[in-house]
Amino acid sequence: MNTVLRTIAASVTVACSAAYAQTPVAPVFAGANLSPAGVRSMAANCAACHGTNGASAGGAIAGLAGMNKEYLANQLKLFKEGKREATVMQQLARGYSEAEINALAEYFSVQKK
Ligand code: HEC
Repeated sequence: MNTVLRTIAASVTVACSAAYAQTPVAPVFAGANLSPAGVRSMAANCAACHGTNGASAGGAIAGLAGMNKEYLANQLKLFKEGKREATVMQQLARGYSEAEINALAEYFSVQKK
């Protein structure tokens, strides 16, 4: 590369990065991953409180494994809409779309207790 080209290339790079730096960067959230692996990893977010794969260790918090699918989905929607009283589940349920809620309900309904 000759000097002129190198200078042009350098100034283009500077101009581009300056323009880029001024562009507000919108946060990019991953879309729903409703593949089996995606749902499994979503369900792992529930394990700390509801047990691995929803099989409760018998603590104060209900296990989710083997619960009726419609019941599970409905409870999550009620939490999300603030219609069922809760300590933590209203906050948590807000993070999931309806499609994700349905996928979680399906997942836990077929897990062994
Ligand atoms: C920080 C602990 C915590 C996590 C994490 C958590 N839950 Fe809960 N869950 C609770 C508690 C506590 C309750 C009882 C309601 C309340 O007080 O929020 C509950 C209640 C529920 C119920 C109602 C059960 C019933 O018998 O009616 C469902 C369904 C549920 N959770 C699903 C989930 C799912 C699905 C996830 C993962 C996306 C999840 N929870 C993650 C603590 C948790």
